[in-house]
Amino acid sequence: MNSKQVVLITGSSTGFGRLFGETLARKGHTVFATMRDPGGRNAKNASEIRTLAEKESLPIHVLEMDVTDDASVGRAVDAAIAKAGRIDVVINNAGYYLSGLEEAVTTEQAQRLMDTNFLGSVRVNRAALPHMRRQRSGVLIHISSGAGRVVLPSAGFYCASKFALEALAEAYTYELAGQGIESVILQPGQYETPVFGNTVTAADQGRTDTYGPAKEFPAKVNGALSSTAGNAQEVAEAVLRIVETPMGEKQLRYFVGPQDFGVDEINALSKRVQTSVLEAFGLAADTKFRKGKAAGTV
Ligand SMILES: NC(=O)c1ccc[n+]([C@@H]2O[C@H](COP(=O)([O-])OP(=O)(O)OC[C@H]3O[C@@H](n4cnc5c(N)ncnc54)[C@H](OP(=O)(O)O)[C@@H]3O)[C@@H](O)[C@H]2O)c1
Repeated sequence: MNSKQVVLITGSSTGFGRLFGETLARKGHTVFATMRDPGGRNAKNASEIRTLAEKESLPIHVLEMDVTDDASVGRAVDAAIAKAGRIDVVINNAGYYLSGLEEAVTTEQAQRLMDTNFLGSVRVNRAALPHMRRQRSGVLIHISSGAGRVVLPSAGFYCASKFALEALAEAYTYELAGQGIESVILQPGQYETPVFGNTVTAADQGRTDTYGPAKEFPAKVNGALSSTAGNAQEVAEAVLRIVETPMGEKQLRYFVGPQDFGVDEINALSKRVQTSVLEAFGLAADTKFRKGKAAGTV
């Protein structure tokens, strides 16, 4: 792999995704900043990114991608391949927060959340992996959350979406290691981005109203998250360090946050347990990273 990489990012209109693109491009990496509706609702964001790219001569290209739409994902991946010839790194970042008591979240709200926060990565990885497997190299980065490891009341569905993403990303690690492809999980704590303004609220107010003191959980949790949020550039610097870590030397999980409630401890324990599980199933050797080995076919 070249030291300058081709990176495709989902949800690049605002927040982390936008910062990742700018930070990586300033280090010379080619960035495909994908977003929904760059010609309409996100026209201002797309134009600001293009203006910055022109002003600083940065290799950033804006592409349209809605991660809930297979065809849209396919078109963006094809466009990136047509332009750059390869994709070295995918950053699965698109996602949103759903706040409210679990019983007050409708089935439709839950499905929509999973469709973005979990199935979005399934779609993007399925579109990008044939190219990475042909290249015999690549990195899938999944933007999970501290809430992919710990559970907050009134954030159960958000946590579930990130727990699901963690399981998927970890399984990818084991399955792709033999083909020289890494799957990595980044778990940010709370950071200042538009995420809080974009939060979806549980729709069934009637049920919420019957919960007594517990109905204050969403306000308490959201207040605590936003009042302790860190500077999002820290997360962009963490992504840059991951992207620039040599192939085969990356960790599966990275936690970065303004407060640590013990996510690193859970990660360390999980690593030990998983090592035993893989050994017990006779899978330890086959799940080790092998650089560009010709295992598997495309
Ligand atoms: N900020 C935090 O404290 C924090 C902590 C841990 C994890 N995270 C995770 O970090 C990621 C980015 O969030 P953020 O904090 O940067 O908030 P944000 O500024 O609201 O960014 C979310 C991005 O996801 C995009 N998105 C939503 N649905 C999409 C879809 N169907 N297709 C494509 N893009 C879609 C949004 O695009 P539109 O402009 O089109 O809506 C936006 O660009 C999320 O996965 C979030 O769960 C955030």
